[in-house]
Amino acid sequence: MSSPIYWSVTCFVGTLLTKSRNMSATMTPLTLFEARPAEALPKSSLLKVANVSKSFGANRALHPVNLQIGCGEVVAIVGRSGSGKSTLLRLIAGLDKPTAGRVFIDNEPLRPGINPRARLMFQDAALLPWLSVLENVLLATPRGSDRRQVARAALEQVGLAAREREWPLVLSGGQRQRVALARALASAAELILFDEPLGALDALTRLEMQNLIERLWLETRFSAVLVTHDVEEAVALADRVLVMEGGKLIFETAVDLERPRARSGRVFIDLKESVLEQVMHGR
Ligand SMILES: Nc1ncnc2c1ncn2[C@@H]1O[C@H](COP(=O)(O)OP(=O)(O)O)[C@@H](O)[C@H]1O
Ligand SMILES: [Mg+2]
Repeated sequence: MSSPIYWSVTCFVGTLLTKSRNMSATMTPLTLFEARPAEALPKSSLLKVANVSKSFGANRALHPVNLQIGCGEVVAIVGRSGSGKSTLLRLIAGLDKPTAGRVFIDNEPLRPGINPRARLMFQDAALLPWLSVLENVLLATPRGSDRRQVARAALEQVGLAAREREWPLVLSGGQRQRVALARALASAAELILFDEPLGALDALTRLEMQNLIERLWLETRFSAVLVTHDVEEAVALADRVLVMEGGKLIFETAVDLERPRARSGRVFIDLKESVLEQVMHGR
C-alpha cells in the first residue's frame, strides 16, 4: 500500500479477547475521516516493514525488504530454507535488530526490545513441562481479574477445554500446538507471527490444524504473518502469498478466495502452481 496519507487507525483485532471476556462487542472507534465512504478508505496498516535489511557479519540474510500488513490480514511467506524468512519474523518480533531500516506498528517505530504487540509461534510449542495446560496459557495472558476466563476461553476455542489440568507431556504434538495457539490467542497480541508452526506434524494433524487456524481466523480476524514451506498451506490460509529468495521478496500474489477454502477448485490449484513455480525456479 503506497498511500501518501497515513491514516490514524486503531486496529481492532482483539475480537477474540472481547468475546472471551464476554464483553459487549464495543469496537474501538476507528478514527477515520468521516466524509469518506468505507469502501474508499485504504485498508489500515498494522505492520510496516520499511527498507529493513539484516547482515550477520559478511552474510547478508535480508536485502532491503518492504512489507505492509493490514489489520486482520494474513500474509504467508514461503521460500527455500535459508532464504531469510525466520530472520524477518525475528526482526518483526523485536528479537533482533535490523542492520538498516525500520519496523513500524500502527505507524509507530518499534522500540528496542521485544515487540509487545506481536506473538511468535514456532514448530516447537515450547510449553513448560512443569506447568499444566491452563497454566501454560496463563503465562501469556495479560494481567486482569478475568485472565483465567480468557485463558479458558482460548482453550475452548482450540478444543482443549477438557484438558486444562493435564501436563503437556501427555498431549500429542498436535494438541501441544493447539495449546500454543491458545496461548497466542489469549495473549491479546495483535499480530501472530507463525514460523512454520505445523512443520513437525503428520499430514492429517497438519490439515486439522490448518482448518482450525482458518476457523479461528473467521471467528477472530487476527492479523498474521505465516512462514511456511508448504505452498498449499500458504494458499489455503493467507490473503496474500509472498515468495522469499536470497533475502528478497521476489513474488507476491493475492488469494482472493472465500473462506473456508475448498482446495480442489481451478483457481486454488492454479495459484498453488504459480507460487510453487516461483519457489522452485524463482528469478
Ligand atoms: N543468528 C545468526 N547468525 C548468523 N547467521 C544467521 C543467523 N540467523 C540466520 N542466519 C543466516 O541468515 C540466513 C537466513 O536464515 P533464516 O532466516 O533462518 O532462513 P529461513 O528461515 O528462510 O530458513 C541464513 O544464511 C542463515 O545461516
Ligand atoms: Mg526458518
